[in-house]
Amino acid sequence: MAQNIMTLRDKKVKGEKITCLTAYDASFASLLDAAGIDIILVGDSLGMVVQGHRTTLPVSIEEMEYHTTLVARGAPNTLVIADMPFMSDSSVEQALIEAGQLIKAGARVVKLEGAAAHTLDIISQLSIRGVPVCGHLGLQPQSVNKLGGYRVQGKDKESAEDIMESAFALEQAGADLLVLECVPAELAQTISQQLKIPTIGIGAGVSCDGQVLVLYDMLGITPGKRPKFSKDFLAGTSSVIRALEAYRDAVIAGQFPGPEHSF
Ligand code: KIV
Repeated sequence: MAQNIMTLRDKKVKGEKITCLTAYDASFASLLDAAGIDIILVGDSLGMVVQGHRTTLPVSIEEMEYHTTLVARGAPNTLVIADMPFMSDSSVEQALIEAGQLIKAGARVVKLEGAAAHTLDIISQLSIRGVPVCGHLGLQPQSVNKLGGYRVQGKDKESAEDIMESAFALEQAGADLLVLECVPAELAQTISQQLKIPTIGIGAGVSCDGQVLVLYDMLGITPGKRPKFSKDFLAGTSSVIRALEAYRDAVIAGQFPGPEHSF
């Protein structure tokens, strides 16, 4: 069944897990669609896994627009979320224009990192205009230079409280979904229990309302060391579609992520 913001909320209420993976082109998007993955995220992780950059920062709005078009063409019935690239939040006006470009390219939700005052303002302005928004807290890859690397966030009491407050502020501003990246499983569980909007975790434990992974990580084709929170679902299966189905089934059954993939 094709998902939307309302059906995802229903899934949360019923305790049914939400499945999400990234994709960047039409062929993989159509396989995700065939495997019954609920959401496709056109992540700015494409800067790293497709373009070979060391961070997501060089990705432009034109590139996000292009990959969103390809994914929407490949999976016209799947809910597509597109990332707002680095610095698209430099002003409310800029953010509204770039969100509009992504929606016109085929996204049905846009994703923004952080919960600074200007981000909350952008979210409420998008929400007023009928654009669904997915927030992103915990490890925010667009702030990698400020964070000093790709590290687990919210490990101490103060930063955990900060993430908790930010999650409430995002919901209040009008966010419809929330990605939690690399935070302790216990913190993600508390946030997921207290928010009305669904949480989608990556490195955030099994208690989030849904899970997302970078497609290339879960197919074992990302060069270098696979992140602790990911798993190679292609290993031991006979095809990409079987790997996607194995991921879908493991998430729905609450078998992925295990404690070994969590912090
Ligand atoms: O860009 C991306 O792929 C993401 C996921 C890691 C959630 O934001």
